[in-house]
Amino acid sequence: MTRHVRLREFLVGVEGLALFRNLVEGDDATAEERIEEVRRIVGSDDEATYGLGIDVPELDARAGYARWSATYDEPGNPLITVEEPVVHELLVEAPPGLALDAACGTGRHARFLAEHGHAVVGVDGSPEMLARATVAVPTGSFVEGGLEQLPLCSGRVDLAVCALALGHLVELGRAIAELARVVRPGGRIVLADLHPTMSATGGQALFRAADGTSAFVREHPHLHSEYLAAFAASGLEVRRCLEPRFDESAAVMQGPAHHFVPEATVAAFRGLPGALVWDLERR
Ligand SMILES: C[S@@+](CC[C@H](N)C(=O)[O-])C[C@H]1O[C@@H](n2cnc3c(N)ncnc32)[C@H](O)[C@@H]1O
Repeated sequence: MTRHVRLREFLVGVEGLALFRNLVEGDDATAEERIEEVRRIVGSDDEATYGLGIDVPELDARAGYARWSATYDEPGNPLITVEEPVVHELLVEAPPGLALDAACGTGRHARFLAEHGHAVVGVDGSPEMLARATVAVPTGSFVEGGLEQLPLCSGRVDLAVCALALGHLVELGRAIAELARVVRPGGRIVLADLHPTMSATGGQALFRAADGTSAFVREHPHLHSEYLAAFAASGLEVRRCLEPRFDESAAVMQGPAHHFVPEATVAAFRGLPGALVWDLERR
């Protein structure tokens, strides 16, 4: 499936979210400003700007990350700006041991764990992402494998992190059971993903590849109830659930929407939870 996304529909979508959030908390003058801006965008005959569109094909995780790997570590990912500080605060609590970065990608968290004294194993389904992780974390060992069947023995790992990957799975239970299997009793698991509020309202893993083209890998919104059922079935106890929110410094406030409709972008996204982070203990 390929969508042809036009700037006009994207901007009106942001205006709509801003208007919706203004319904109860806002005021009439702000609503009028938003509606006036929508009129301007929809009514403009500047097709060179507002009619501009890009093809955005949907790719599966394997094909998507093969293409994304070359640009994945470029700054400006709004999800990473809210997720990373919260996850790192949790990871530093664990004493050094054997740490697993599941769906490690280019090794963002694996590198942090190695720098904090852990022996690191990274697993990922994308050879292209793993190749970059191997360079980024020379002391780590990296293995190609799937979240639904981790290539590790049971009960070996002291600490596991799985970031920004579970949303790509249609169903959570199998991957969470696998994480619980490889972690020793008393060991910790940190999960982080795009908040379901975002994926349920259109947020996707959209990226720009090195050749300038765009694509996305689907994000499935997993609600808290789905996570809690999977944790209960796998013997995992919730220590904390954290939901860091977008503030005005978040990268989403510096993206293309902000360039064209800055006030609407801030009104649409400020205060919404960007990431869902779970701190778990294996019983
Ligand atoms: C958005 S990246 C996150 C990478 C890294 N964890 C981070 O937070 O920067 C998602 C990663 O999940 C991997 N992935 C997606 N589905 C997977 C699966 N079923 N099994 C293993 N890896 C998977 C992709 O190859 C990709 O490297």
